[in-house]
Amino acid sequence: MNKLTVVALLLSFVGVFSAFVPQAQDPALQNLKVLPKDMTFQEVREVMKGFNAALGVKCDFCHVPSSADPKKLDFASDENHHKDIARKMIRMTAKINRKYFNDHAKEGNTLTISCATCHNGQKHPKSI
Ligand code: HEC
Ligand code: HEC
Repeated sequence: MNKLTVVALLLSFVGVFSAFVPQAQDPALQNLKVLPKDMTFQEVREVMKGFNAALGVKCDFCHVPSSADPKKLDFASDENHHKDIARKMIRMTAKINRKYFNDHAKEGNTLTISCATCHNGQKHPKSI
């Protein structure tokens, strides 16, 4: 998966991208297993804000509090099992797009599957 694909697929619902200017004080990323490892902290943060919106949750739904400072979250930790589920979901979403919406994307149509397509602001997608 390249960076642009991820960005297009995951963020199509967030709207306009903010400018990704790396900040000197940004923490280094330690534990990316699915997202491209060359993503900057700011880019990852934008993707994460998209998850919040798509699922109707806050960051702590997938990230455990830091043991050093419980007021902060330990983003690199894998202790919250929702983070694991989310990794599978990222892979699944990318695969659906790659496998079934490839031609669609080639025609310049960016309306592909994102987290929000199924979740629509809910942790558990609802059926009608
Ligand atoms: C639906 C679950 C989910 C939510 C909500 C979520 N995250 Fe994440 N976050 C993940 C997953 C999954 C990863 C790991 C991605 C990977 O392995 O490539 C991650 C990784 C990160 C990382 C990289 C940590 C590192 O060092 O590797 C940061 C920073 C981060 N998230 C910040 C946030 C922030 C800030 C929010 C709220 C705005 C947030 N996350 C909300 C699932 C979530
Ligand atoms: C094709 C539809 C679909 C897409 C796309 C999708 N999900 Fe899901 N997701 C589901 C369904 C259905 C469930 C509920 C499974 C269950 O109840 O066991 C779920 C459950 C989850 C859960 C677990 C919620 C909980 O309460 O434990 C997380 C976290 C999650 N999805 C994150 C994501 C993220 C992040 C994305 C985008 C990268 C995404 N999903 C994209 C269908 C989807």
